[in-house]
Amino acid sequence: MKVAPSILACDFSCMGKEVKSVSDAGAEFIHFDVMDGHFVPNIFFAPAIIRPLKKFSNAMFDVHLMVTNPTVHVELLASSGADIITFHIESKSDTKKTIDLIKEKGKKPGIVINPKTPPEKIINYLNEVYMVVVMGVEPGFSGQQFISDTTEKVSKIKKLIKNSGHNVLIEVDGGVNAGVAKELEDAGADICVSGSFIFLSKDRKKAIDSLKFF
Ligand code: DX5
Ligand code: ZN
Repeated sequence: MKVAPSILACDFSCMGKEVKSVSDAGAEFIHFDVMDGHFVPNIFFAPAIIRPLKKFSNAMFDVHLMVTNPTVHVELLASSGADIITFHIESKSDTKKTIDLIKEKGKKPGIVINPKTPPEKIINYLNEVYMVVVMGVEPGFSGQQFISDTTEKVSKIKKLIKNSGHNVLIEVDGGVNAGVAKELEDAGADICVSGSFIFLSKDRKKAIDSLKFF
């Protein structure tokens, strides 16, 4: 399992230091949550904050758009240092057009699926995306409890990907801790996003290792 700490749970008074600490502790990705206060009831994170954090880490910058109209934000994010841009299949933008725009800007596209959205919704895009992100909580806040049905959903999505014959990664986002990482990997997850579990632990290397090695 690869690990993507979500900086939504970090100490915002020293974000550079926080990004460096999890990167040095072995995180392969850094996860940035962008929220517009409309698609989700929370506001967070302008693209301008991402670029200066690049110098603290060589990890891939994985930007998760929780916004109503993702296409509007792609250009700015792409020029702000995002390597992967993911957006919700439940958002208002045209899914295919948004994927194309992300690719056009030279970034890796991903689609995110909410807990209540049926897995089949992603089928038509499996030939287009780098990753599918399966939400383990309702989007908007860190520190929520993992929804246990997520694991079965990951298995279903893994099967859909296998049947499609395409090489698409599965990332699980929200509520992930050492207690669920193994079952998620067994179900087919490649990457886990984890915020509060990593950033609130005293030993971040130990926390990240506990998500990778079982
Ligand atoms: C939830 C966000 C997640 C969140 C993860 O809306 O997309 O990335 O920050 O944080 P934890 O691991 O605390 O649920
Ligand atoms: Zn996220």
